[in-house]
Amino acid sequence: MSQIDNITTFNFSLGREERNKLNAHSSFVVWFTGLSGSGKSSLANMVEKLLYEQKVRTFVLDGDSLRKGLNKELTFSLKEREENLRVAAEVAKILISSGSVVLASFISPKQANRNMVRKIIGEQDFIEVFVNTSLETCEKRDVKGLYKKVRAGEIKNFTGIDSPYEKPINPDIEIETEKENLEEAASRILKLLQKKLELK
Ligand code: ADX
Repeated sequence: MSQIDNITTFNFSLGREERNKLNAHSSFVVWFTGLSGSGKSSLANMVEKLLYEQKVRTFVLDGDSLRKGLNKELTFSLKEREENLRVAAEVAKILISSGSVVLASFISPKQANRNMVRKIIGEQDFIEVFVNTSLETCEKRDVKGLYKKVRAGEIKNFTGIDSPYEKPINPDIEIETEKENLEEAASRILKLLQKKLELK
C-alpha cells in the first residue's frame, strides 16, 4: 500500500476542456531536445513569440530556470537528470491542463528520458523537436562559456563530452541549426503546430 492510495482527488468543475474553449485553442507540449548550446531555448523563445502574435497562451519551461528553483537540489548525474525531467514533465502536464501550449527546453539526453516524459504527458499532447547541432558547433559557439570550463576540467559529466547524448530515433521534427536560420526553423515548427492548435 502506498501513500498515494490514501489520496482522493476532488472533482473540480472546470478542467482543461473548458479552459481550451475559453482560449479557443488546444494545449500541448513542444519538447525541444539537444545538446547544451544547440539553440533549444532560442528556438522555444522564437516559437513562443510567433504563437503570442496569434493570441495563443504559452509558457516556456527550461532546464536552466527549473534547475535554479524547483529542481535546485538536483545534479547532472544520469539518475538526477531523470528526476529533473520527471518533474519537468509533471509541471508541463499541469500547464497543459491550465490551457497553455508549453515550450519545454531540456537536454533530455537519453531515449529512455524522452520515453518517460512522453508517457507522463501522453502521446497525443507531446511533440518532439530534435535540435540537431553538432558538438563541434555548440563548442565553437559556447554561448554560456561552459565548454571552455569543461575543457579546463572545471565541469564533470557534461553532455556530449563525458556524459552521453542519444539522438532521438523518431522526432516529429528535426532542426539543423547549421543549415537553417532561427526564423526559418521557427516558422517550420509553427506550421507543424497549426493543426494541433485547432479545437476538436
Ligand atoms: S538535463 O540533462 O537534465 O535535461 P537540463 O536541460 O535541465 O539538462 O540543463 C542543462 C543546462 O544546464 C545546460 O544548458 C547548461 O547550461 C547547464 N549545465 C551545467 N552543467 C551541465 C552538465 N554537466 N551537463 C549539461 N548541462 C549542464
